[in-house]
Amino acid sequence: MVLRLIRFTAIGLILMLLGALGYMQWFRPGSLSPDRAGGLVTAAEMQIGGPFALTDHTGRAVTDQTYRGRWMVLFFGFTHCPDVCPTELATVAEALGALGPDAGRVAPLFVSIDPERDTPAALAQYVTLYDPRLTGLTGTAEQVSVAARAYRVFYRKVEPPGSSTYLMDHSALTYLMDPDGRLAAIFRPGTTATDMAAAIKAHIARRGG
Ligand code: NI
Repeated sequence: MVLRLIRFTAIGLILMLLGALGYMQWFRPGSLSPDRAGGLVTAAEMQIGGPFALTDHTGRAVTDQTYRGRWMVLFFGFTHCPDVCPTELATVAEALGALGPDAGRVAPLFVSIDPERDTPAALAQYVTLYDPRLTGLTGTAEQVSVAARAYRVFYRKVEPPGSSTYLMDHSALTYLMDPDGRLAAIFRPGTTATDMAAAIKAHIARRGG
């Protein structure tokens, strides 16, 4: 009886130990924890990014490959956006200024999720208001949907009652992709230009170019 109790206790202890080891293996500190330098989240493991084929604001057909070798800063939005898009574009533009010569390594892209109204011409007028280095991208509804899915961007048309026009509801994260097209960082809306520029600079320095 006593022997059996000891055996059960031993088995119990071994199981607890195995459980603890498994727990430590799965939740190793750092393996999933975000890098919080400068108020951003870095998550190289996240499946964000992928192939897209779109048209830039000069009418040129481009793909994700067009920007390989440069750091892509991507933001999805639409030119009729009343608040979030203008704020975020202004931040990206200001961050480009703060980057100095490193800005040349960056391809800042504004991807429209409202291709119905955002023609290349409309985008050309819009993005250059913020910074001549910004590139506006649009495409067919299908092309835009493929690009948005790759970046897990959600969007939908909203028609306010009594209004003859519509708005787009959309996620408003800004993505930093490395020169190989892999996710380097995600910026939440409201990130300051200073923080964004510092984070981009840190990533460029860490990679050595
Ligand atoms: Ni917007």
